[in-house]
Amino acid sequence: MSNPVYLALDLPRLDAAKALAEKVKGHVGGFKLGLEFFCAHGHHGVHEIASVGLPIFLDLKLHDIPNTVAGAMQAIHVLEPAIVTVHASGGRAMMEDAKAAAGEHCKVVAVTMLTSLDERDLQRTGVSGTPHDHVLRLAELAEAAGLDGIVCSGHEIGEVHRQWKKGYFVVPGLRPAGSAVGDQKRVVTPRAARDDGASVLVIGRPISRAEDPVQAAREIEATL
Ligand code: C5P
Repeated sequence: MSNPVYLALDLPRLDAAKALAEKVKGHVGGFKLGLEFFCAHGHHGVHEIASVGLPIFLDLKLHDIPNTVAGAMQAIHVLEPAIVTVHASGGRAMMEDAKAAAGEHCKVVAVTMLTSLDERDLQRTGVSGTPHDHVLRLAELAEAAGLDGIVCSGHEIGEVHRQWKKGYFVVPGLRPAGSAVGDQKRVVTPRAARDDGASVLVIGRPISRAEDPVQAAREIEATL
C-alpha cells in the first residue's frame, strides 16, 4: 500500500518548500500545493516540486462557469497532477466538465463546505439546514456528476464513506496523537481517518513546523 499522506507545502518560499519536500520524500506519499503557492510560483513552482518525484495534489478549489473551469483544467493538464479540487457548489455541469477535461489519471475531488463557514454563514448565503446536511447533499451531487470523491473532515469521513462506498476521500485537518489541540476538540488522528475510509490524508504543520520534519513524518507513517 502506498503512503496516503500528502504533505501540504504551505510555505511562501519556493526554495524552502522544495528543500522540505526533498527532506521528507521518503516518508510521505505526495505533496499538496494550494492556491497561494500556485499564484506565487505558477507552473514553474509545480515543476520544481514535481521534480522531487512524488505525485502532486493541486488544491486550487476551482469555481466558475463550466467552460472556464474546463479550460483551467486543460491548462494544468501538462502538470500531470494526481488530484485537483473544484467546489461542489459550482454545480453539476461545472463538475462534469471539470472531470471530462481532467484526463484519466487525474482524480477530481469536490470541496463541499469550507470549514471556515458555520451554520450562520450558510444561512447568509441563502442555504437553510445544517452544515452536515449541506455537506452530504453536495457529496451526492459530486457523485452524480461523476467526480472521484470529496474533501471532508475527519469527523464526517465515516458517514460519507458509508453513503459513497467507492468514493475517493481527501481528509485534511488531522493531528497525530499527542499534538497540541484545545481541550474541547475531539482529535482525529491520521490513523482514525484512514480506518474510517480516507484515501488521502492531508497533513501540513504537524510535519512542516516540527522541529524535525523527517522524524514527524516517520512517526505518522508508522501509525498507518
Ligand atoms: O492544519 P494543517 O497545516 O495540517 O493543514 C494542512 C492543509 O489542509 C492546509 O493546506 C489547509 O489549508 C488544509 N485544511 C483544510 N481544511 C481544514 C484544515 C486544513 O483544507 N479543515
